[in-house]
Amino acid sequence: MKIWTIANQKGGVGKTTTTVTLGGILAQQGKRVLLIDTDPHASLSYYFGTDAEELSASVYDIFMSQSEISADAVLDCLCSTKLDSLFILPASMALATLDRQMGMQSGMGLILKKALFTVNDEFDYVLIDCPPVLGVLMVNALAACQKVVVPVQTEFLALKGLDRMIHTLEIMGRSLQKEFDTLIVPTMFDRRTNAAIQSHNKLVEDYGSRVWKGVIPVDTRFRDASQAQSPASVIYPRARGVYAYNKLLAELDG
Ligand SMILES: Nc1ncnc2c1ncn2[C@@H]1O[C@H](COP(=O)(O)OP(=O)(O)OP(=O)(O)O)[C@@H](O)[C@H]1O
Ligand SMILES: [Mg+2]
Repeated sequence: MKIWTIANQKGGVGKTTTTVTLGGILAQQGKRVLLIDTDPHASLSYYFGTDAEELSASVYDIFMSQSEISADAVLDCLCSTKLDSLFILPASMALATLDRQMGMQSGMGLILKKALFTVNDEFDYVLIDCPPVLGVLMVNALAACQKVVVPVQTEFLALKGLDRMIHTLEIMGRSLQKEFDTLIVPTMFDRRTNAAIQSHNKLVEDYGSRVWKGVIPVDTRFRDASQAQSPASVIYPRARGVYAYNKLLAELDG
């Protein structure tokens, strides 16, 4: 089971879109895919039409059950989607209280990792969508994964946010004694603007081989797809943004 976390402390850089689109492509290939929403704003859950305020169970319950986590308890929290092999572990608003409730307890950072261990044979891929905040949820998502995908918008302000995220990965890597396999993914790239080209150049200059060679272009189809509550890969398989995510997947899977 491959576990990838999609994280950046900067908001609105394409984390949820990356999670949904990669998940959609994988499920269309027949892979068994679990998408986990760890953002209290629950954008990923809403994307698939799951109402975070009406859920009977969510990723919050997994954090609450802590040590006695079982595969059945995890599977009970899942929601199905229009794609047969694509499931979501939805978020709920209560997640926003987690940091206050248990941020300091020891072993708190490994709850998600332990929970995923119990469903190791059920899925081929797990993609974890993070909130744009460093807290107990992002720490869990980073501790659980084998790869970190860091979407970054190709504009100067977003590059500043990236410095913070990379610093977080260094600090977390030291405390977890783990070297993160990180891929920085330029998103919303608009090749017609000088600002995008210049910030892309700066990104490559600063982070070199950690930056994916491709880019995810600006593509209005992503917004249209979210309105249709379906991954863009399903309804616009030939969109250029989807094409770019196919290439990204090949890189991540290689
Ligand atoms: N390549 C793209 N081209 C055009 N629009 C995009 C692209 N990627 C994402 N978007 C749009 O940009 C907005 C923000 O994207 P998204 O929700 O994926 O970011 P996020 O990093 O998850 O945000 P947050 O930090 O708030 O969770 C959405 O409306 C989405 O449809
Ligand atoms: Mg998001």
